Amino acid sequence: MARKIVVITGVSKGIGNALAKEFQWHGFQVIGISRTEPVQAVDEWIQADLTDPKEVMRVASIIKVKYPHINVLINNAGRGLYEKWENTDLDDLRDLFELNLFGLLGITQKLLPMIKESKGTIINISSVAGKLPVACMGPYCATKFAVNALSDSLRIEMMPYGVKVLNVMPGRISTGFSDSCTGTQKAPKTPGAKKGPEKLVSAIFKAYKKEKKQLIFPKWYKWVMRAQRIFPNYYAKKNIQKWNLDSDK
Ligand SMILES: NC(=O)c1ccc[n+]([C@@H]2O[C@H](COP(=O)([O-])OP(=O)(O)OC[C@H]3O[C@@H](n4cnc5c(N)ncnc54)[C@H](OP(=O)(O)O)[C@@H]3O)[C@@H](O)[C@H]2O)c1
Repeated sequence: MARKIVVITGVSKGIGNALAKEFQWHGFQVIGISRTEPVQAVDEWIQADLTDPKEVMRVASIIKVKYPHINVLINNAGRGLYEKWENTDLDDLRDLFELNLFGLLGITQKLLPMIKESKGTIINISSVAGKLPVACMGPYCATKFAVNALSDSLRIEMMPYGVKVLNVMPGRISTGFSDSCTGTQKAPKTPGAKKGPEKLVSAIFKAYKKEKKQLIFPKWYKWVMRAQRIFPNYYAKKNIQKWNLDSDK
C-alpha cells in the first residue's frame, strides 16, 4: 500500500520538526518546507521562503510533478511580534501577515486540487492568541484571529469535497519561537512555557485521526477563553499586571 504523504511548512525546527517526527513515526512520507535545513531530516526538504509568491508557486510545482497525491497539509510556519499597537510599524505588520496569513493561504490554494483529490486534511497551526486578545501581542493575535476565521470558513467550503480542516490552538510551548519574535516588548512568564512540543504533536495526530475540527492545547486554555468572555475587565487587569503596563504611563 502507498505511504500517506504529509506536507509540513516551517519544518526546520520547533513544532514543525516535531510534527515531522510524529507523522514519520506513524508511517507518513514527510515533505517539509522551510528556509533553513531541518534539524531532524525529513523524506524531502524543499527550501523556500513562503512569503514570496514565486517561491510558493515553485514549491507547488515540485510537489505536483513528484508526488501522486497529498493526504495532509500542515500549515505551521509562523512567527510572532511583541509590540504595542501604538508602536507597531505598518510594514512590520504587513510582513507578519505575509507569513502567518498570506503565506499560509498561498500554499493552501496551490495544493488544494491535490488535497481535494485525496479527500485529505488541512491542519492550520493557529494559537490560543487567535481567541484571546493579549496586550503587547495584538499584531500577532490579529494574524491568528484571521487564521481561525480562515480555518472555520474554509472547513465549510471544503465539506462538499470531503476535505477536513483541523484548527490547532496551542498555548505557550518551548521552541525557538520567542527568539524569532521581533518587536520591543519582552514576553512575560506563562504557565507551561518550559514544555517542549512532544505532547502537543501527539495530540495533533490524535485529533487528525479522529477528524476533529479544533484542538486547544493544553485543554485548560478553554477555561481561560471562557473566563475572558465572562469577566473581560478582570482579564484586562491581569494583562496590564502581566505586561507591567501601568509603569509605562
Ligand atoms: N511556540 C509557541 O509557544 C507557539 C504557541 C502557539 C502557536 N505557535 C505557532 O506554531 C507555529 C510554529 O512555531 P514554533 O514555536 O515551532 O516556532 P519556531 O521554532 O520559530 O519555528 C518556526 C518555523 O517557521 C519557519 N518559517 C519562518 N519563516 C518562514 C518563511 N518565511 N518561510 C518558510 N518557513 C518559515 C521556520 O523555518 P526557517 O526559519 O528555517 O524558515 C521554522 O521552521 C507558528 O505558526 C506559531 O505561531 C507557537
